[in-house]
This record gives sequence, structure tokens and C-alpha cells, in this order.
Amino acid sequence: MSIKKMSDGVWSLRSIDWDRRIFDELISLPYGTTYNAYLVKGNDKCALIDSTDPTKTYELINDLKRLKVKVDYVISNHAEQDHSGSIGDVLNLYPDAMVVTNSKCKDFLIDLLHIDSTKFLVVKEGDRLELGSKTLQFKITPWVHWPETMITFLEEEKILFTCDFLGSHIATSELYVADMPLVYLAAKRYYSEVMMPFRNNIKKNIEIVKDIDPKIIAPSHGPVYQDPKFIISAYEEWISDRVKNLVLIPYVSMHGSTKVLVDRLTQSLVDLDIEVMQFNLAKTDVGEIATHMVDAATIVLATPTVLLGPHPAAVYATYLVAALKPKTKYFGLIGSFGWGSKVVDTVSNMLSPLKPHIINPVLIKGMPKEEDLKLIDNLAIQIRELHKNL
Ligand code: FEO
Repeated sequence: MSIKKMSDGVWSLRSIDWDRRIFDELISLPYGTTYNAYLVKGNDKCALIDSTDPTKTYELINDLKRLKVKVDYVISNHAEQDHSGSIGDVLNLYPDAMVVTNSKCKDFLIDLLHIDSTKFLVVKEGDRLELGSKTLQFKITPWVHWPETMITFLEEEKILFTCDFLGSHIATSELYVADMPLVYLAAKRYYSEVMMPFRNNIKKNIEIVKDIDPKIIAPSHGPVYQDPKFIISAYEEWISDRVKNLVLIPYVSMHGSTKVLVDRLTQSLVDLDIEVMQFNLAKTDVGEIATHMVDAATIVLATPTVLLGPHPAAVYATYLVAALKPKTKYFGLIGSFGWGSKVVDTVSNMLSPLKPHIINPVLIKGMPKEEDLKLIDNLAIQIRELHKNL
């Protein structure tokens, strides 16, 4: 655990998880992560903001003991266990402490952690908690990324504690952003995997953050932002309706036929001055694809046919696209089949919640011939025409 003083009476208590490589058994963490709690000590009362992952409880408890403080309030901005999972142990250490949160989060904490219902102080939008010379204000910001999420503002120091919102998965001993390009990339990846399905909710919540006008944004994953504009303007770009002149080609190829189509499409798009990225689904971390889905105008899925349907790796990728709801405007489908294919129906049905604009699919029997490759060239031209309207 890393204790760092942020200002008089304010400390970060961060568990640095250098080893963690997967979250929710789904999201890969190439840079590890941190779980950040914060301690705010006023003249009268002391509040702990969020806690830590259950695997790191002992670190948080040790640090609270090292600081020799008595915690009166545990603020819970979000009920997911990587931030709430140590609250029970904190309450055991400070039996008089109360958990301060909104009513939805209270219900989650009772369900997930079995915290006694009498241990809560329920707050609403705009409520304040006086600590003596320090004041915490609570703003309800649902769906970043659960329905109960809220943020907490320390008025005197103008520090905004945002929990998951605006965070990034990076294990670093630096409290503040030091490597901006790395943090930008990690925050974009985090947005794509965790926040992107809630883009419309984030549009409202980012306005709440801007209205607060914090001097510091302190999330509960990754480094703290001393320049809030850095992460706010990044989010404004990601949640905007703007997309880039970029085509992503996630593909699988079993015997090389589909790869011939993928390479021809890549060449044709490059020749037409369209940026293109290939992702071999047999090897690629899907988080990389998700990161680029944040602003790609077009995704062309390339898959062979397995038992009439798409390759299972392509099914997985399609499922994630539908679940993550990128602002991608156009979808394409190419591939090779042996004796029959229901690939178009299967993929179209899976993407139907997105109401996708699907460009004419190009499915080829067997190894592509020159006339088949002309269809791929034509697909590239169609994409260029569509991208002229971006
Ligand atoms: Fe970092 Fe939604 O938990």
C-alpha cells in the first residue's frame, strides 16, 4: 500500500496491484491496476473515501493503523467489490463508523457484503457532510458504470473523488499522472471496456464534473489528475458522435482463404487513404480492439464458416461489439465458406441491438479468385464513399 499526502488532512491510500492481469475474468489489464482509497481528516471527523479490493484489505488496514486515525465515516461511491470489498473490515476496526452512500448503493452493499442496514447514513444529490474545516458534497452520477454510482467533492481543496469514472488501469507508484501518453491510452482502454456502453449517461455526468470545476480529479483506479482538463477533454472526444476515417478488421482464418480477403481489403483501403487495423482474433487481446472501437467509423468482421455459422472467435468478438455499443457507423462482413453459410444472418442478428448499417457482405466459396478480390476492392470503394460523409 502506498500512502501519499495530497494536502493538509488529505491522503491517498492506494493498493498497487502490479500482478493483476484480468478483471471480472474478462477485461485484460496489461499494466496492472491500483485501487485508490482516500482519507480526509477534518477538525472534528475523519472520512475514508472508498476502500480497496478484498485481496488488498490487509494493506488498507495496515495503512489506517500507520496513520493512527479514527475513521468516523466510510464514503462508498460505488458498490463494486474492488472498492467496497474491504468496508466490512474497516467497520470492524472502527465499530462506531457509519457508511455514507446513496440509497441504491446502500441496497447493493447490503446484498453484496451483508453490511448491517443500521450502519448507513443515506445521502441524496447535493447533500453535504461536515468534517470540521472540510466539507464533502455528494453528486449522484448514475451509470458510470453501475446504476448507483456517485462522486464526492471535497469543497475546500476542490478535489473530486470519482471512483471508477475517469479512471485507468495502471499499476504505478506515482500518485499523479507522469506518463501522459500511457495514461491516455490506458484511460481510453478503460473507457472502452467499462464505460462505453453508457456513453449517453456519461454525456450528462461529464457536464456535472465540468460544473464542479475541480482542481484535482482523484479516481479510484490509476493516477490522479492534477490537470482535470486532460481527462475531461479526452472523454469529451470519446463520447462525442465524431468517428475517425478508420476501419478495424477483426478476423479469423483457418486455412488462409479469409486472410487473403483481409489482406486485399487492407491493401485497397490503404490505397484509398483510409487508416486500417487488422486484429487476428486467435491472438489479439480483445481489449485492444475495444480501445480502437471508441472512434473507428467502420468495423469489417472477417470470418470463415464453421458448421454453417461464424467461427466461435468471431462470435465472441461480435457479442462484445454489440455489448460495448461503440459509436461505429458502418459494419462489413467478409469471409470464406466451404459448402454453405448462415454467417450473415447470425452476425446481423447479434448486431441488431445496434441497428447497424451493414455494407454489402462479401462471402466467397473456397479460396478467393481474382473476380472475388474485385468484390473486395469494390467494398473498399463503398467504404470510402461512406466515409466521405463523416
Ligand atoms: Fe473499479 Fe466498477 O469497479
